[in-house]
Amino acid sequence: MSPASPAFPAHGRPKEAVLAQMRAARDHDVRWRQGRAFSLVFHGGDDVSAVLQDAYTLFFSENGLNPTAFPSLRQFETEVVAMTAGLLGGDAHTVGNLTSGGTESLLLAVKTARDWGRAVRGVTAPEMVLPATAHPAFDKAAHYFGVRAVRVPVGPDFRADVDAMRAALTAQTVLVVGSAPQYPHGVVDPIEGLAALAAAHETLMHVDACVGGLMLPFVRRLGYPVPAFDLSVPGVTSLSADLHKYGYAAKGASVLLYRDNAVRRHQLFAAMDWPGGIYASPAIAGTRPGGAIAAAWAVLNYLGEDGYLRINRTVMETVTRLQAGLRAIPGLRVLGQPEMSVMALAGDGLDIYEVSDELTARGWYLDRQQFPPSLHMTVHHGHAAIVDEFLADVAAAAEAVRRPSLRKTVNRTVVSAANLLTRWLPEAWVSGLTRRLSSALGGGGLPGRSAAMYGMLGTLPNRGDLRELVLDLVEGFTRPATPAPRSNR
Ligand SMILES: Cc1ncc(COP(=O)(O)O)c(C=O)c1O
Repeated sequence: MSPASPAFPAHGRPKEAVLAQMRAARDHDVRWRQGRAFSLVFHGGDDVSAVLQDAYTLFFSENGLNPTAFPSLRQFETEVVAMTAGLLGGDAHTVGNLTSGGTESLLLAVKTARDWGRAVRGVTAPEMVLPATAHPAFDKAAHYFGVRAVRVPVGPDFRADVDAMRAALTAQTVLVVGSAPQYPHGVVDPIEGLAALAAAHETLMHVDACVGGLMLPFVRRLGYPVPAFDLSVPGVTSLSADLHKYGYAAKGASVLLYRDNAVRRHQLFAAMDWPGGIYASPAIAGTRPGGAIAAAWAVLNYLGEDGYLRINRTVMETVTRLQAGLRAIPGLRVLGQPEMSVMALAGDGLDIYEVSDELTARGWYLDRQQFPPSLHMTVHHGHAAIVDEFLADVAAAAEAVRRPSLRKTVNRTVVSAANLLTRWLPEAWVSGLTRRLSSALGGGGLPGRSAAMYGMLGTLPNRGDLRELVLDLVEGFTRPATPAPRSNR
């Protein structure tokens, strides 16, 4: 049940009452502390969390906007950049800065390429060439900054297809993109091939190592095969690595590195004529939370190389156990050959969205993916303890899906009928149908049973204005459940 929307509080309440209400509000959140969520949270252990909280709290009022006011934050930021540059193939020329996360790093990499292209190559209608699997933050950047995103299908191994990307390059290309690894299937793109392509075409090349930047170097040192992916690869001009993912930092920390300052210069911003004074800023955010910068510095120093090796050994052993267990369950398969701890679980004769519904009913949280239908798994240190319980539940879920039931037959019939009909219906009708079906089948919010909705949405030959439906949902999530009463004060 959603709580009624409150008016602005007329009077303050005791701290304990406020905090108690907030603790209770968490009751319906995903249970990541119990290792039940395979996305959104990266848990490095309770000791790591304690260090992060202390460091964050120490600097929670400080502001990274002005480094002259807070030399402490400047020191933390520049040291985090230097430490991660050393880890990721940088040298004395490498420059960089912290951002609020992967999206801000990618937005900046694209904006930099656009401005570099205009200044250095005279490109007025910039394009970037990227694999279909690269993160949607690149589309957001394209949308925000007027850069055309040229998406290229990946190969059967889900990795970027270098030849197909070569064919997509034009005189307007300012940026080539590869991921290490890409999010949907967790495989590393052929960065050396892509970087050679970019260099030959005299264009920039960004490696999105938001997921892998703080993990792949340690995985390689542990003896697992990891292809070259970082700034040591000739032709790579920038790289992003999220500290708040496998760096196990507090949320709000990513590092964006550039091979040299000449390119990074195009990222920076300065407003000279404001009555409030000259205003300069390296990134998109103005105020930058000191806590996130401080916690990032703290976790690198707290764990050190040996700490990250220890954590990643556990994670990779967990992945090995999970993959072996999942592969042994009839009707399921892991897609591709992921290098680290991100992977996709697909059906091999079983409807994977039905499996997903069964897992949701058993209290697990896995994101659903499309093209092909699969479930996403981001495995972190916190999952080591739940492997057996999870595998038993997946086996039970697969077994339940194998059993025929009336609901499944109805769902399948609805999906087939919708697919058949939408081939012939005009777009507006399809949208209405989509809307009605998605709510009838449990759409809107976090549905318990949504296999049919996903089945339908994923296979519609004519998706109508599905995008508008999704934006409606986004609007819905940012609106209170019931309108706030007007204050008469
Ligand atoms: C490969 C990749 N790049 C970028 C991002 C965006 O990161 P953030 O959610 O921190 O903005 C993600 C997020 O999952 C990702 O997987």
